[in-house]
Amino acid sequence: MAGIESRWRHGVTRRKALRGLAGFLAGSPLLRAQQDPFRDHSRIPAMEELADVFDFEAVAYEKLPRQAYDYTGHGTESEFSLRRNREAFDWVKLVPRAVADVSAIDPSTEVLGVKMPYPIMIAPTAAHAQLHPDGEAAMYQAATAASNTLFLMSHNASLPFDKIAAASTGPLWFQLYARERLEDNLPFLDTVQTAGYRAVAITIDQNASVYERQQHNRHFSAPGGPGGRGRRRGRPEPANPYRVIPGRLWYNWAFVEKLRPHLKVPLLAKGVMTAADAKVAVETGFEGIIVSNHGGRAMDQGTSTLEVLPEIVDAVGARVPVLIDSGFRRGTDILKALALGAKAVGIGRAVRWGLGSYGAPGAQRVLEILQGELVLAMAHTGRPTLKSIDRTLVRTDFR
Ligand code: FNR
Repeated sequence: MAGIESRWRHGVTRRKALRGLAGFLAGSPLLRAQQDPFRDHSRIPAMEELADVFDFEAVAYEKLPRQAYDYTGHGTESEFSLRRNREAFDWVKLVPRAVADVSAIDPSTEVLGVKMPYPIMIAPTAAHAQLHPDGEAAMYQAATAASNTLFLMSHNASLPFDKIAAASTGPLWFQLYARERLEDNLPFLDTVQTAGYRAVAITIDQNASVYERQQHNRHFSAPGGPGGRGRRRGRPEPANPYRVIPGRLWYNWAFVEKLRPHLKVPLLAKGVMTAADAKVAVETGFEGIIVSNHGGRAMDQGTSTLEVLPEIVDAVGARVPVLIDSGFRRGTDILKALALGAKAVGIGRAVRWGLGSYGAPGAQRVLEILQGELVLAMAHTGRPTLKSIDRTLVRTDFR
């Protein structure tokens, strides 16, 4: 009884305390099991009950602290780019091939020397410790368990890069937020190359990053907020009239030439949204392109990534692999991007919902759902291999 009394004293709601008391008096495990630790009158489903990736967001909403949910879910400003990333999938229709031998579907591929059983990778996202105590180590274990999925590690990871690398065995790439002084970048690059990360992607779309939405701002800077490396908890918003994050606004292509000699691994540019930038990137020495608008978290009022993918593939696809992310939630989304020329697709929020909902098994399940849906979509459309996928697979009507 003492526990119940102390819960009364510490301001637990009357209803919760009464339920606790009833459960105690009845001594019933069933009654106790119905007491949802997260929210009145709700039940968190078992992972096996979830049918698709969207379902995981609802569970993450229930389970995560509000600021962690908001940090993951939102985009910049009016969230036009965020919505458009999803809308664009409706503007691409699949064309089935009625008679085709799809008895053996093989979705495997290889990108910059990494063998990928599925053309799916984990996009770099910051601060996994706010989703699960084991942070990126848990996500990495999930990735490896889901058929050795390639994990592109965020520069703003919660754990040290070498510790993460020791947590599992699958392929790792590293995402760099470049610092203006060359020498400030070298310790990171040394660490990750020694730890076995097999490529580096420089994110180039955060030059003038700002998180404007009131709600997002509040949670982003609140104590216990994202807390990624280099982002102190509770730090106030930058005191300048444009609210641009300090350390940005200096990016230039020439920087890559200074950095290149320090890299023994391939270099990709993440955040390319035009054919013109893709061409400059390849001429500057980048060996891969990631078409991305940061999942609607960089510039608002832009296009979706799917819309610009064909022009970027036409411009540089013959020379370097073109990858894509932003908005991918279904196997058919992935198939559409493959048809428009992408070599692989990055998953950002969806695996975060998985990790935040059920830990590593949740993130693994999200990846496996996407893998299964992709295989199904390939079977439906009569395309048994990635080689057999081309633009005849889709009708596009971008608006
Ligand atoms: C990101 N993204 C990102 N990108 C990057 O290069 N470095 C980073 O640290 C982060 N951090 C980050 C945090 C969170 C919470 C999100 C949602 C995204 C962008 C990410 O790599 C990717 O471009 C998008 O997440 C893709 O869109 P979806 O899959 O989230 O819709």
